[in-house]
Amino acid sequence: MNLHFTEEQEMMRKMVRDFAQNEVAPEVERMEEEDRFPREMITKMGELGLMGIPIPEEYGGAGMDFTSYIIAIHELSKVSAALGVILSVHTSVGTNPILYFGNEEQKKKYIPKLAAGEYLGAFALTEPGAGSDAASLKTRAEKRGDTYVLNGSKVFITNGGEADTYIVFARTNPEEKGAKGVSAFIVEKDTRGFEIGKKEKKMGLNGSNTVQLTFDQCEVHESQLLGKEGEGFKIAMANLDVGRIGIAAQSLGIAEAALEHAVNYAKEREQFGKPIAHQQGVSFKLADMATEVEAAKLLTYHAASLKTNDLPTGKAASMAKMFASKTAMKTAIEAVQVYGGYGYTKDYPVERFFRDAKVTEIYEGTNEIQHHVISKHLLHD
Ligand code: CAA
Repeated sequence: MNLHFTEEQEMMRKMVRDFAQNEVAPEVERMEEEDRFPREMITKMGELGLMGIPIPEEYGGAGMDFTSYIIAIHELSKVSAALGVILSVHTSVGTNPILYFGNEEQKKKYIPKLAAGEYLGAFALTEPGAGSDAASLKTRAEKRGDTYVLNGSKVFITNGGEADTYIVFARTNPEEKGAKGVSAFIVEKDTRGFEIGKKEKKMGLNGSNTVQLTFDQCEVHESQLLGKEGEGFKIAMANLDVGRIGIAAQSLGIAEAALEHAVNYAKEREQFGKPIAHQQGVSFKLADMATEVEAAKLLTYHAASLKTNDLPTGKAASMAKMFASKTAMKTAIEAVQVYGGYGYTKDYPVERFFRDAKVTEIYEGTNEIQHHVISKHLLHD
């Protein structure tokens, strides 16, 4: 595998870098302090075509390849990991399920708005009692005439409260346990009986909304069923197979930013009469960090290139997500160490990288679940 990008992909990288430096960087501190959702940036990203990068032009997207989309998340996350996950969830698991599993009417109704950034997408799988064991979800969707009545609750919903459409997973057949009785629905934000609950106060990723949802006798027309009844769990898993590449790219962005800051600081900071970069304890640490970041980059872009070439991504996505998220955490911890006492203060961004990195090892499947997925592929493919 070689990491050569096309001219179009390099143009995407430059555009997102410029946007991140000029428009996002000046706002990051305020996003961080106020934990404020960056709605105006989503609008700008929509204008730049970033909210529908891999969506075909016939549905209002930019019609670019999947690798270009991964480049965008990677570059954005170097400056704001919060914006990186907003884009990843919106596209990979908020829009793609409609593109891959929706009927023509659903695609025409929702995708152009999602691709333009007029609508924001979210994905509602996790429940208080169903996290890693997603197939044990209890939210019920009972068929009554031409509607489904949803009752239940969801937790840790990224983009929740800000999103216009939610891909919601609920049990249509209570007789069937586990994955089989689950179906997927497109639920619009203003649907009666659909309530946005508590907003989580998180360790990091300030600016990215994470909320609880409740469905109380929430009536959804049967035309909102995505795919067929009982296909919901497969829809969730298939989209996570792709979504996890986005989280790998977000992790890579955090890791690269932490490395860049650590290298620059080590070159400036002098102790014992010379820059600390020239102390072997620090320079070897930087060498290890750089090597792991490079390996994370290869795994992430390898998984992206599989998707770009319409090849199966499940194993590669889990490997990339697992390795890149571990690298983000490790690199951020080491960056704080290189900064010493200053790294522990909010005067420098490395403490934010440290806090932002942790969740990449948890969401879109914990790294323990990624081990499970990878080993399943090894043993059964
Ligand atoms: N693609 C298509 N179908 C799949 C699939 C895939 N990748 N993986 C499994 N399936 C199908 C199986 O074929 C099986 O169907 P059949 O019985 O017809 O063969 C069915 O789904 C059940 O499969 P398993 O028996 O493997 O399912 P399981 O109960 O053992 O669960 C799991 C597998 C991998 C542990 C899964 O539950 C999982 O991924 N858990 C983690 C949940 C997760 O990632 N949540 C993320 C929430 S979203 C989020 O975090 C977004 C955010 O905020 C950033």
